[in-house]
Amino acid sequence: MRHLISLKEQSADDIREILDIAARLKKKYKAGEITDLLPNKTLIMLFQKNSTRTRLSFEAGMTELGGHAIFLATAHAQLPLADFRDEIQAMMRFGDVLMMRAMRAEDVQTAASFNRIPVIDACSEKYHPCQALGDILTMAEYSDGLDNVKKIAWLGIENNVSNTLKLACAKLGIEVVLASPEVHPASVDEELNSQADATGRVKRVQDPAEAVKGADYVHTDTWLDAEYFTVGKPRPEFAEEFERRKKVFMPYQVNAKLIDTYAPKARIMHCMPMHVGYEITRDAIDHPNSVIFDQAENRKHVQKAILLWLLEKAV
Ligand code: CP
Repeated sequence: MRHLISLKEQSADDIREILDIAARLKKKYKAGEITDLLPNKTLIMLFQKNSTRTRLSFEAGMTELGGHAIFLATAHAQLPLADFRDEIQAMMRFGDVLMMRAMRAEDVQTAASFNRIPVIDACSEKYHPCQALGDILTMAEYSDGLDNVKKIAWLGIENNVSNTLKLACAKLGIEVVLASPEVHPASVDEELNSQADATGRVKRVQDPAEAVKGADYVHTDTWLDAEYFTVGKPRPEFAEEFERRKKVFMPYQVNAKLIDTYAPKARIMHCMPMHVGYEITRDAIDHPNSVIFDQAENRKHVQKAILLWLLEKAV
């Protein structure tokens, strides 16, 4: 049985196959063709954390495939009072694929270990494979083919998103240069790092300007988790940590000056949500090189491809 957990399990050919399915599905969608390839199939979507893009893209994607998606938030389920292993086994009796926006990657792996239905890690503290695949689809489109994507740069914190993006790109032959002053401690996966490093395509530098020079794409992500914020402002209890992070991470900010000076041809990417003025500036988001909203849209085309690939359905 196939699962999508961290991309450690997928080969370069597997990744290419999913991307190829996504590109074909997107073309059909844009041409107005119906692709109801999963009639009577149900996707169970368990969210232990908030989401905008992941929920919308999976739910809309499942609708377009002729199936149904059930949204279940932890707060509305019996997870807080029961043993996770029991509840998740029961949940998997009601659907054909399970996706989890999980507090712990370990819980996704537990669900997958039952091998009952395919399981997707739809963002945990360690991985975000759906995001990586959507990002690579976007880069392949803008570069007129995956083989033309030669180098990406990642600025800011190393985290779940950079983990899976780094690994997938390295497997596909793309050079990855990270300029990151800190790694999110919960995101560390030594096995993933070893796999990525073994390709010889991952490099770390200190200087953001050096990282972006010659890059085709510059990526970043927020270095403040959502729980640090309330209605767009840092929570008072995180004020000290917020100030510390600003000092550490502001030199790695993606802004128009950095791009225009050192990488005028590089496209700007961000997985979203964005903290404007921190890891990225408004002038970078609105920059002519920004592909951020196409990147967001591609989540849906990739989710559909992931579902079909996991269920081994031909397009
Ligand atoms: N990038 C991403 O996964 O967005 P959400 O957290 O809104 O799903």
